[in-house]
Amino acid sequence: MTGEQKNIAPIIRAEALTKNFQGMVALNAFDFSVNEGEIVGLIGPNGSGKSTVVNLLTGVLAPTSGRVLIDGKDFTGAAPHVVARHGVVRTFQMIRLFPSLTVERNIVLALQEQSGPGYMSSFLNRRNAMAWHEKAACKARDMLALFEMEKHAHKLATDLSIGQQRMVELARGLATNPRIFILDEPAAGLSPINVDRLIEMIRRMRDEFGVTILLVEHVMRVVQAVCDRVVVLDYGQKVADGKPDVVVQDPKVIEAYIGLGRSSHA
Ligand SMILES: Nc1ncnc2c1ncn2[C@@H]1O[C@H](COP(=O)(O)OP(=O)(O)OP(=O)(O)O)[C@@H](O)[C@H]1O
Ligand SMILES: [Mg+2]
Repeated sequence: MTGEQKNIAPIIRAEALTKNFQGMVALNAFDFSVNEGEIVGLIGPNGSGKSTVVNLLTGVLAPTSGRVLIDGKDFTGAAPHVVARHGVVRTFQMIRLFPSLTVERNIVLALQEQSGPGYMSSFLNRRNAMAWHEKAACKARDMLALFEMEKHAHKLATDLSIGQQRMVELARGLATNPRIFILDEPAAGLSPINVDRLIEMIRRMRDEFGVTILLVEHVMRVVQAVCDRVVVLDYGQKVADGKPDVVVQDPKVIEAYIGLGRSSHA
Protein backbone atom coordinates (compact mmCIF):
# COMPACT_ATOMS: atom_id res chain seq x y z
CA MET A 1 0.00 0.00 0.00
CA THR A 2 1.07 3.56 -0.59
CA GLY A 3 0.55 4.79 2.95
CA GLU A 4 -1.84 7.49 1.76
CA GLN A 5 -4.68 8.48 4.03
CA LYS A 6 -7.41 5.91 4.36
CA ASN A 7 -10.85 7.07 3.28
CA ILE A 8 -13.82 6.03 5.35
CA ALA A 9 -15.92 6.18 2.20
CA PRO A 10 -15.20 3.46 -0.32
CA ILE A 11 -13.38 4.49 -3.50
CA ILE A 12 -16.41 3.53 -5.53
CA ARG A 13 -19.96 2.77 -4.57
CA ALA A 14 -23.14 1.79 -6.38
CA GLU A 15 -26.43 2.68 -4.70
CA ALA A 16 -29.54 0.86 -5.91
CA LEU A 17 -28.04 0.92 -9.39
CA THR A 18 -30.56 -0.21 -11.99
CA LYS A 19 -30.31 -0.52 -15.77
CA ASN A 20 -33.12 -1.46 -18.12
CA PHE A 21 -32.57 -2.22 -21.79
CA GLN A 22 -35.81 -1.95 -23.76
CA GLY A 23 -37.81 -3.12 -20.75
CA MET A 24 -35.37 -5.90 -19.84
CA VAL A 25 -33.82 -5.41 -16.39
CA ALA A 26 -30.09 -6.03 -16.85
CA LEU A 27 -29.24 -4.78 -13.35
CA ASN A 28 -31.68 -4.48 -10.49
CA ALA A 29 -31.11 -2.22 -7.44
CA PHE A 30 -27.47 -3.20 -7.14
CA ASP A 31 -25.75 -2.04 -3.94
CA PHE A 32 -22.03 -2.47 -3.96
CA SER A 33 -18.79 -0.85 -2.94
CA VAL A 34 -15.05 -1.32 -3.25
CA ASN A 35 -12.73 -0.08 -0.52
CA GLU A 36 -9.22 1.20 -0.97
CA GLY A 37 -6.66 -1.59 -1.31
CA GLU A 38 -9.17 -4.35 -1.97
CA ILE A 39 -9.19 -6.80 -4.86
CA VAL A 40 -12.88 -7.50 -5.38
CA GLY A 41 -14.17 -10.12 -7.82
CA LEU A 42 -17.46 -9.69 -9.69
CA ILE A 43 -18.68 -13.00 -11.05
CA GLY A 44 -21.87 -14.51 -12.42
CA PRO A 45 -23.16 -16.47 -15.41
CA ASN A 46 -23.19 -15.05 -18.94
CA GLY A 47 -25.63 -12.16 -19.23
CA SER A 48 -25.96 -11.70 -15.45
CA GLY A 49 -25.04 -7.99 -15.67
CA LYS A 50 -21.31 -7.83 -14.88
CA SER A 51 -20.24 -5.71 -17.86
CA THR A 52 -23.32 -3.55 -17.31
CA VAL A 53 -22.02 -2.80 -13.80
CA VAL A 54 -18.61 -1.89 -15.23
CA ASN A 55 -20.21 0.31 -17.91
CA LEU A 56 -22.34 2.09 -15.31
CA LEU A 57 -19.43 2.63 -12.91
CA THR A 58 -17.22 4.08 -15.66
CA GLY A 59 -19.80 6.35 -17.32
CA VAL A 60 -20.08 4.32 -20.53
CA LEU A 61 -23.77 3.82 -19.71
CA ALA A 62 -26.11 6.04 -17.70
CA PRO A 63 -28.26 4.17 -15.17
CA THR A 64 -32.04 3.98 -15.38
CA SER A 65 -32.01 4.78 -11.65
CA GLY A 66 -29.63 4.69 -8.70
CA ARG A 67 -26.32 6.43 -8.11
CA VAL A 68 -22.60 6.01 -8.67
CA LEU A 69 -20.37 7.58 -6.01
CA ILE A 70 -16.61 8.05 -6.29
CA ASP A 71 -14.98 9.04 -3.01
CA GLY A 72 -18.47 9.78 -1.72
CA LYS A 73 -19.22 12.26 -4.53
CA ASP A 74 -22.01 11.75 -7.01
CA PHE A 75 -20.73 10.83 -10.49
CA THR A 76 -23.98 9.36 -11.80
CA GLY A 77 -24.13 9.92 -15.56
CA ALA A 78 -20.65 11.53 -15.70
CA ALA A 79 -18.76 11.04 -18.98
CA PRO A 80 -16.12 8.28 -19.15
CA HIS A 81 -13.19 10.74 -19.41
CA VAL A 82 -14.39 12.58 -16.29
CA VAL A 83 -14.60 9.32 -14.36
CA ALA A 84 -11.17 8.26 -15.68
CA ARG A 85 -9.59 11.51 -14.53
CA HIS A 86 -10.82 10.68 -11.03
CA GLY A 87 -8.70 7.54 -11.14
CA VAL A 88 -11.36 5.03 -12.22
CA VAL A 89 -9.74 3.21 -15.14
CA ARG A 90 -10.89 0.09 -16.97
CA THR A 91 -10.15 -2.52 -19.59
CA PHE A 92 -12.80 -3.79 -21.97
CA GLN A 93 -14.10 -7.34 -22.41
CA MET A 94 -13.45 -6.87 -26.16
CA ILE A 95 -9.88 -5.58 -26.39
CA ARG A 96 -9.79 -1.93 -27.39
CA LEU A 97 -6.34 -1.10 -28.62
CA PHE A 98 -5.87 1.00 -31.75
CA PRO A 99 -4.84 -1.80 -34.12
CA SER A 100 -2.94 0.34 -36.62
CA LEU A 101 -0.87 2.14 -33.98
CA THR A 102 2.23 0.81 -32.28
CA VAL A 103 1.99 -0.62 -28.79
CA GLU A 104 3.96 2.33 -27.39
CA ARG A 105 1.77 4.86 -29.19
CA ASN A 106 -1.35 3.22 -27.75
CA ILE A 107 -0.03 3.90 -24.26
CA VAL A 108 1.12 7.46 -25.06
CA LEU A 109 -2.37 8.20 -26.40
CA ALA A 110 -3.93 7.04 -23.13
CA LEU A 111 -1.60 9.36 -21.22
CA GLN A 112 -2.55 12.20 -23.58
CA GLU A 113 -6.24 11.53 -23.04
CA GLN A 114 -5.75 11.48 -19.28
CA SER A 115 -3.81 14.75 -19.18
CA GLY A 116 -6.65 16.57 -20.94
CA PRO A 117 -6.28 20.35 -21.10
CA GLY A 118 -2.83 20.20 -19.48
CA TYR A 119 -1.55 18.25 -22.44
CA MET A 120 -3.16 20.60 -24.94
CA SER A 121 -1.52 23.64 -23.37
CA SER A 122 1.89 22.00 -23.80
CA PHE A 123 1.35 22.42 -27.55
CA LEU A 124 1.62 26.18 -27.13
CA ASN A 125 5.32 25.65 -26.69
CA ARG A 126 7.07 23.21 -29.05
CA ARG A 127 9.80 22.40 -26.57
CA ASN A 128 7.23 21.61 -23.85
CA ALA A 129 5.34 19.40 -26.26
CA MET A 130 8.47 17.44 -27.16
CA ALA A 131 9.44 17.07 -23.50
CA TRP A 132 5.94 15.83 -22.71
CA HIS A 133 6.12 13.24 -25.48
CA GLU A 134 9.54 12.04 -24.42
CA LYS A 135 8.34 11.61 -20.84
CA ALA A 136 5.20 9.81 -21.96
CA ALA A 137 7.15 7.45 -24.26
CA CYS A 138 9.53 6.74 -21.39
CA LYS A 139 6.63 5.94 -19.07
CA ALA A 140 5.11 3.71 -21.77
CA ARG A 141 8.35 1.75 -22.11
CA ASP A 142 8.68 1.38 -18.31
CA MET A 143 5.17 -0.04 -18.13
CA LEU A 144 5.81 -2.38 -21.06
CA ALA A 145 8.98 -3.61 -19.33
CA LEU A 146 6.98 -4.34 -16.18
CA PHE A 147 4.66 -6.55 -18.23
CA GLU A 148 7.63 -8.07 -20.13
CA MET A 149 6.35 -6.51 -23.33
CA GLU A 150 9.13 -4.00 -24.04
CA LYS A 151 10.40 -5.88 -27.09
CA HIS A 152 6.99 -5.36 -28.70
CA ALA A 153 6.89 -1.58 -28.14
CA HIS A 154 7.26 -0.72 -31.82
CA LYS A 155 5.02 -3.44 -33.24
CA LEU A 156 1.50 -2.67 -34.36
CA ALA A 157 -1.06 -3.70 -31.76
CA THR A 158 -2.79 -5.86 -34.36
CA ASP A 159 0.37 -7.96 -34.80
CA LEU A 160 0.27 -9.19 -31.19
CA SER A 161 -1.44 -12.32 -29.87
CA ILE A 162 -4.57 -11.92 -27.75
CA GLY A 163 -2.54 -12.66 -24.61
CA GLN A 164 0.01 -9.99 -25.53
CA GLN A 165 -2.75 -7.49 -26.33
CA ARG A 166 -4.31 -8.10 -22.93
CA MET A 167 -0.94 -7.40 -21.26
CA VAL A 168 -0.68 -4.14 -23.26
CA GLU A 169 -4.15 -3.15 -22.05
CA LEU A 170 -3.03 -3.70 -18.46
CA ALA A 171 0.20 -1.75 -19.07
CA ARG A 172 -1.78 1.06 -20.67
CA GLY A 173 -4.25 1.28 -17.78
CA LEU A 174 -1.54 1.12 -15.11
CA ALA A 175 0.41 3.87 -16.92
CA THR A 176 -2.41 6.30 -16.12
CA ASN A 177 -1.92 5.72 -12.35
CA PRO A 178 -5.43 4.48 -11.57
CA ARG A 179 -6.77 4.50 -8.03
CA ILE A 180 -9.12 1.71 -9.02
CA PHE A 181 -8.51 -0.47 -12.07
CA ILE A 182 -11.57 -2.34 -13.35
CA LEU A 183 -10.71 -5.41 -15.41
CA ASP A 184 -13.45 -6.98 -17.55
CA GLU A 185 -12.48 -10.60 -18.18
CA PRO A 186 -8.72 -10.11 -18.48
CA ALA A 187 -8.13 -13.89 -18.63
CA ALA A 188 -10.36 -14.43 -21.68
CA GLY A 189 -8.36 -16.11 -24.43
CA LEU A 190 -5.20 -16.50 -22.34
CA SER A 191 -3.07 -19.66 -22.27
CA PRO A 192 -2.56 -21.26 -18.82
CA ILE A 193 0.93 -19.73 -18.61
CA ASN A 194 -0.44 -16.29 -19.38
CA VAL A 195 -3.16 -16.83 -16.76
CA ASP A 196 -0.38 -17.43 -14.19
CA ARG A 197 1.29 -14.23 -15.37
CA LEU A 198 -2.00 -12.33 -15.10
CA ILE A 199 -2.46 -13.55 -11.51
CA GLU A 200 1.03 -12.32 -10.65
CA MET A 201 0.46 -8.94 -12.29
CA ILE A 202 -2.91 -8.33 -10.62
CA ARG A 203 -1.25 -8.95 -7.24
CA ARG A 204 1.69 -6.68 -8.11
CA MET A 205 -0.59 -3.86 -9.26
CA ARG A 206 -2.22 -3.86 -5.84
CA ASP A 207 0.79 -4.65 -3.66
CA GLU A 208 3.48 -2.58 -5.42
CA PHE A 209 1.43 0.18 -7.05
CA GLY A 210 -1.33 0.54 -4.46
CA VAL A 211 -4.05 0.08 -7.07
CA THR A 212 -7.46 -1.09 -5.90
CA ILE A 213 -8.91 -3.69 -8.28
CA LEU A 214 -12.36 -4.74 -9.40
CA LEU A 215 -12.04 -7.96 -11.35
CA VAL A 216 -14.82 -9.31 -13.56
CA GLU A 217 -13.77 -12.83 -14.42
CA HIS A 218 -15.15 -16.21 -15.42
CA VAL A 219 -11.89 -18.05 -14.78
CA MET A 220 -12.35 -19.09 -11.16
CA ARG A 221 -8.67 -19.97 -10.76
CA VAL A 222 -7.87 -16.27 -11.13
CA VAL A 223 -10.71 -15.14 -8.85
CA GLN A 224 -9.73 -17.54 -6.09
CA ALA A 225 -6.04 -16.71 -6.37
CA VAL A 226 -6.32 -12.94 -6.08
CA CYS A 227 -9.65 -11.77 -4.64
CA ASP A 228 -10.16 -10.65 -1.05
CA ARG A 229 -13.91 -10.58 -1.63
CA VAL A 230 -16.28 -11.80 -4.32
CA VAL A 231 -19.66 -10.42 -5.34
CA VAL A 232 -21.96 -12.66 -7.35
CA LEU A 233 -24.62 -11.54 -9.82
CA ASP A 234 -27.45 -13.61 -11.23
CA TYR A 235 -30.05 -12.13 -13.57
CA GLY A 236 -28.97 -8.63 -12.57
CA GLN A 237 -29.35 -9.29 -8.81
CA LYS A 238 -26.63 -9.58 -6.21
CA VAL A 239 -26.88 -13.10 -4.75
CA ALA A 240 -23.69 -13.22 -2.65
CA ASP A 241 -20.91 -11.01 -1.30
CA GLY A 242 -18.11 -12.52 0.78
CA LYS A 243 -14.80 -14.34 0.90
CA PRO A 244 -14.06 -16.41 -2.22
CA ASP A 245 -13.96 -19.81 -0.50
CA VAL A 246 -17.26 -19.11 1.30
CA VAL A 247 -19.02 -17.66 -1.74
CA VAL A 248 -18.23 -20.62 -4.02
CA GLN A 249 -19.99 -22.92 -1.55
CA ASP A 250 -23.07 -20.72 -1.22
CA PRO A 251 -26.10 -22.68 -2.48
CA LYS A 252 -27.44 -19.57 -4.28
CA VAL A 253 -24.19 -19.27 -6.18
CA ILE A 254 -24.10 -22.95 -7.07
CA GLU A 255 -27.70 -22.66 -8.24
CA ALA A 256 -26.83 -19.62 -10.39
CA TYR A 257 -23.99 -21.44 -12.09
CA ILE A 258 -25.16 -25.01 -12.41
CA GLY A 259 -28.79 -25.14 -11.32
CA LEU A 260 -30.06 -23.90 -14.64
CA GLY A 261 -27.29 -25.49 -16.67
CA ARG A 262 -26.02 -22.11 -17.81
CA SER A 263 -22.46 -21.62 -18.99
CA SER A 264 -19.82 -20.40 -16.55
CA HIS A 265 -16.57 -20.98 -18.50
CA ALA A 266 -15.17 -21.73 -15.03
N1 LIG B 1 -26.30 -2.20 -24.86
C1 LIG B 1 -27.19 -3.16 -24.60
N2 LIG B 1 -28.40 -3.16 -25.20
C2 LIG B 1 -29.31 -4.12 -24.92
N3 LIG B 1 -29.10 -5.13 -24.05
C3 LIG B 1 -27.91 -5.18 -23.44
C4 LIG B 1 -26.88 -4.21 -23.68
N4 LIG B 1 -25.81 -4.51 -22.90
C5 LIG B 1 -26.12 -5.63 -22.23
N5 LIG B 1 -27.40 -6.02 -22.54
C6 LIG B 1 -28.08 -7.18 -21.96
O1 LIG B 1 -28.02 -7.04 -20.55
C7 LIG B 1 -27.81 -8.29 -19.92
C8 LIG B 1 -26.54 -8.21 -19.10
O2 LIG B 1 -25.46 -8.10 -20.02
P1 LIG B 1 -23.94 -7.97 -19.53
O3 LIG B 1 -23.14 -7.74 -20.76
O4 LIG B 1 -23.86 -6.98 -18.45
O5 LIG B 1 -23.68 -9.43 -18.96
P2 LIG B 1 -22.30 -10.08 -18.45
O6 LIG B 1 -22.56 -10.60 -17.08
O7 LIG B 1 -21.19 -9.14 -18.64
O8 LIG B 1 -22.18 -11.32 -19.44
P3 LIG B 1 -20.85 -12.03 -20.04
O9 LIG B 1 -20.34 -12.93 -18.96
O10 LIG B 1 -21.36 -12.82 -21.18
O11 LIG B 1 -19.89 -10.97 -20.44
C9 LIG B 1 -27.77 -9.32 -21.05
O12 LIG B 1 -29.05 -9.89 -21.17
C10 LIG B 1 -27.40 -8.51 -22.26
O13 LIG B 1 -27.90 -9.10 -23.44
MG1 LIG C 1 -19.49 -9.15 -19.77
